[in-house]
Amino acid sequence: MLDRAAEIADDPDAVADRHRGKLLGTLFFEPSTRTKMSFTAAMKRLGGDIVDMGPVDQSSVKKGESLADTVRVVEGYADALVMRHPLEGSAKMASEFIDVPLINAGDGAGQHPTQTLLDLYTIRENAGFDDLTVGIMGDLKYGRTVHSLAHALTNFDAQQHFISPESLQLPRGVRYDLHEAGASMREHTELGGVLETLDVLYVTRIQRERFPDENEYREVAGQYQIDADTLDAAKDELTVMHPLPRVDEIAADVDETEHAQYFQQAHNGVPVRMALLDLILEGSA
Ligand code: NCD
Repeated sequence: MLDRAAEIADDPDAVADRHRGKLLGTLFFEPSTRTKMSFTAAMKRLGGDIVDMGPVDQSSVKKGESLADTVRVVEGYADALVMRHPLEGSAKMASEFIDVPLINAGDGAGQHPTQTLLDLYTIRENAGFDDLTVGIMGDLKYGRTVHSLAHALTNFDAQQHFISPESLQLPRGVRYDLHEAGASMREHTELGGVLETLDVLYVTRIQRERFPDENEYREVAGQYQIDADTLDAAKDELTVMHPLPRVDEIAADVDETEHAQYFQQAHNGVPVRMALLDLILEGSA
């Protein structure tokens, strides 16, 4: 998939008409900028188009329609669906009601697998996968991009360091899966001491909207921030990534450094999602 994405990034014109007439149904039950817009751009750059459910509060969900019914209807309008939903497991569940492919664009605090594809693409373009040491910092409990990335990295020769407050460590299920996969991993509460060993630092936002209690959020908000001075201790070649949106985890002065790859990372979402859609739509061509 990453090879195909690189091929597409090199020569997007070669696929500009490849899926003319195909439609992608987009169902976003939660806010999204990057994921939705890059899927839209990807589909259009393959010659296809999208049909969008629109905002949840203007859809039949407002009238009490079940998710199963919504996807059963919408599968009749499109060749594939992409869905983001606040409930963990919702994408898997919805896919069981329909015959067209359904892509998980984030299921609550569960997984975000297409973000991981573009994260892997970005890692490969920068640090590469040989003898890789990755630090993943911030909200490891609710951050779905972290869960997907940590799983995926077990397929590579990667050491993983998880840096978070104790209250936001990896969920037990993810930690268990990593152990089962034989992952080389360690958990820390401080970035200091581990930063200098890293090839990649993947920073995440504290997922405020997932906290059951606003006070719990306030206790951890504002910790685990980096700025250009923090990175003095890092390797010169350190790649700093972030799935975005950032709040205050990465100071603006990092943007000017050679370390910053998060905007390029977001841009990589288009060729990567083009490669994914190409693979999925080819099956139904
Ligand atoms: C992430 C998400 O939605 O999980 N955003 C994204 O898709 N790039 C990260 C986040 O919201 O913090």
